[in-house]
Amino acid sequence: MTDESLDESRPTTGRDTSRRTAAVIPAAGRGIRLGPGAPKALRALSGTPMLIHAVRAMADSRAVSLVVVVAPADEATAVKNLLDEHALPERTDFVVVPGGETRQESVRLGLDALPAGITTVLVHDAARPLVPVDTVDAVIEAVRDGAPAVVPALPLTDTVKQVEPRAKGEPEPVVATPERALLRAVQTPQGFDRATLVRAHETFAAGGEGAAPGEGATDCAGMVEQLGVQVVVVPGHEEAFKVTRPLDLVLAEAVLARRRANDVF
Ligand code: C5P
Repeated sequence: MTDESLDESRPTTGRDTSRRTAAVIPAAGRGIRLGPGAPKALRALSGTPMLIHAVRAMADSRAVSLVVVVAPADEATAVKNLLDEHALPERTDFVVVPGGETRQESVRLGLDALPAGITTVLVHDAARPLVPVDTVDAVIEAVRDGAPAVVPALPLTDTVKQVEPRAKGEPEPVVATPERALLRAVQTPQGFDRATLVRAHETFAAGGEGAAPGEGATDCAGMVEQLGVQVVVVPGHEEAFKVTRPLDLVLAEAVLARRRANDVF
């Protein structure tokens, strides 16, 4: 089901249709935790590359008029060809740009490719190929209703311990046990007022003053929090899980099989 009030192509009353939405998909990671082989985003799920599932998940929302895919730097042409080879909605535009060394850099390169007129930006991991369109629409709607930064998230099932990290295999001392009921596991797409997200990336530019150390920010919303801007959480979805380890591929195939079965009946 799609929220028709978010449909960019429908005449609407009341809603501000000048607010155009683009999705940036950082897909430039190597995905080494999944094991050796092709970059994670190009791994097949039910015969279709994970990235194509993720692109379709964004384009399924009638509010999304543009999808920017940030490809591994040496695979941009291959990714462009991949998009050309697969059926995608005609109402949506697709652009491919080469990515950077970290997710943060890749997202910034995606933001640089956005045309004027885009006011709402989704940032969605290629590694979350199965997020349902209702979750995408709920994020967009919350941004359009005035929240500058919105993240879908789920309560945790596991209790979480904060530890003092030790070398691999060594017992790690526990330093705290945060109250589980107050924690949420964050998913994507995360939705932003464009100007706010651009400001966050300018303020915490990789390598610059205020930059996150090492791998850069792994989560755009965290950068917006550091600006002192309120980030809000909306309900996520269990099918928006990140495909990271080999077992996640098994789960993703099972979700797709269940969807196919539901389509038949
Ligand atoms: O490594 P991780 O699973 O946290 O990556 C999250 C997302 O960021 C993935 O979709 C990955 O392709 C992307 N990424 C990127 N550029 C990088 C590293 C990761 O676009 N240099």
